[in-house]
Amino acid sequence: MRIDIITVLPELLKSPFEASILKRAIDANLVSVHFHNLRDFGIGNYKSIDDTQFGGGAGMVMMIEPIDTCISKLQSERTYDEIIYMTPDGEHLNQGIANHVSLKKNIIILCGHYKGVDQRVRDKFITREISIGDYVLSGGELGAAVLCDAIIRLIPGVLGNETSALTDSFQDGLLAPPIYTKPREYDGLKVPEVLFSGNFPEIEKWREEQAYLRTKERRPDLLDD
Ligand code: ADE
Repeated sequence: MRIDIITVLPELLKSPFEASILKRAIDANLVSVHFHNLRDFGIGNYKSIDDTQFGGGAGMVMMIEPIDTCISKLQSERTYDEIIYMTPDGEHLNQGIANHVSLKKNIIILCGHYKGVDQRVRDKFITREISIGDYVLSGGELGAAVLCDAIIRLIPGVLGNETSALTDSFQDGLLAPPIYTKPREYDGLKVPEVLFSGNFPEIEKWREEQAYLRTKERRPDLLDD
C-alpha cells in the first residue's frame, strides 16, 4: 500500500511513522508513506495557499489551485483508489472504514487547516471525507495519523500472529473481553478460574460471553445493528 499525505505541517505528522508498528511496516516495505508540503505548491512569491472567504466571515480558506497542482502531479504518476479529506464534518472513522481503506493500493490523504478547503476541492477531487470525532482539531494531521495507524496495522504481515488484528475490539462488532497475565493473584485480585481450565471451547465461550456483556454495558449501540 502507498499513502500520500498532503499537509501544511509535515513535521507534525512524521513522528508516528518513525516508531513502533508503523515504522516496522514501512521498513518491511508493507506500506510506504510520502509527505507533500502544500506550501511547495503555493501561489506567487509568498507561496500562498489560503485566502479570505467570499461573502465575508472569520478564518482563512485553503485555495483550490495549490491542492489541484499537488493532487494532479500525484495522479499523473499513478492511479489512486481513494482521495480522503480529513474534516470534522466527515463520516466518523470506525473499524469498518479502516478495514475498507486498508484494502486499497494507493490513497491520498488531504489534511485541512484554518477554516478548511474551498468547497470545490471537495467536489472535484475528494472520494471520502473522514472525521475522527465530534471535536475540532487545529488541523487534519492528527486525524490523518490516527487513520494511518488504524489502517496500517490491518495490512497482512504488519501484525504478527500474537497480536492478530482479528481479535481486536470492534472486529466482530463487539468490544474485546477482559485479558489477564501473570501473576495469577495480585494483592487479592484473582484471575478467573476458567482461564486455567485448559478447556479451550469453555474458555472461548467465556470470552464470547464477556465480550457480549462488556459491549452491552458500555456500548449498547453496537448491538443495535
Ligand atoms: N480536522 C479538524 N478536526 C478534525 C476531526 N475531528 N477529524 C478529522 N479531521 C479534522
